[in-house]
Amino acid sequence: MSSKTLLMISGSLRLGSTNTAAINTAARLTPVGWTTEVYRGMNELPHFNPDDDDESVTVVDGVVRLRSAIGTSAAILICTPEYAGALPGSFKNLLDWTVGGMEIVGKPVAWLNVSAHATHAADAHESLRKVLGFTGADIVDAACVDIPVARADIGGDVLVTADAFEVAATESLRVLTDYAAAVTAD
Ligand SMILES: Cc1cc2nc3c(=O)[nH]c(=O)nc-3n(C[C@H](O)[C@H](O)[C@H](O)COP(=O)(O)O)c2cc1C
Repeated sequence: MSSKTLLMISGSLRLGSTNTAAINTAARLTPVGWTTEVYRGMNELPHFNPDDDDESVTVVDGVVRLRSAIGTSAAILICTPEYAGALPGSFKNLLDWTVGGMEIVGKPVAWLNVSAHATHAADAHESLRKVLGFTGADIVDAACVDIPVARADIGGDVLVTADAFEVAATESLRVLTDYAAAVTAD
């Protein structure tokens, strides 16, 4: 995998998910010279337990794959829903597994907030900012975008059909990859 790889992660496990559709669509908008890896292993991660993440134990394959994907990426794009005023438990679990691995430290990260809810999933994204802060990720604010996507904008192929999304996602990816290239060159 090249060092100019964008890792894209959906925080939803739902079939037909708006957030997964946004990630699938963003993956098709990868800037020239970059490649994209869409992470699809969230369902295989065990519940985080610090006892299973100790130097004396073998970390399970799913966690190794997650950490490897983060380690070989130059930047990460996240798209997550809000459940009950917070991040989905399965996605918070994924983020908990990143803490011990350290691969995420200093990694440029941005998100596309596609919530069409009146509150714009603000609590989940406030929490995302806080958790990413603890992980040591480098949040690229200029690449974080609120672009509501309605369920009616999702095609049967789990892609977003709205033009406004394509415009917003393309700009977000441009800013994120420009930033990642600049910090890598430092
Ligand atoms: C159990 C549950 C709790 C939810 N809680 C919230 C919430 O607190 N705030 C919100 O904006 N949306 C909430 N929603 C709506 C989801 O965020 C919304 O359906 C979103 O599209 C789900 O993401 P997905 O389409 O990627 O699966 C909730 C949905 C479910 C199923």
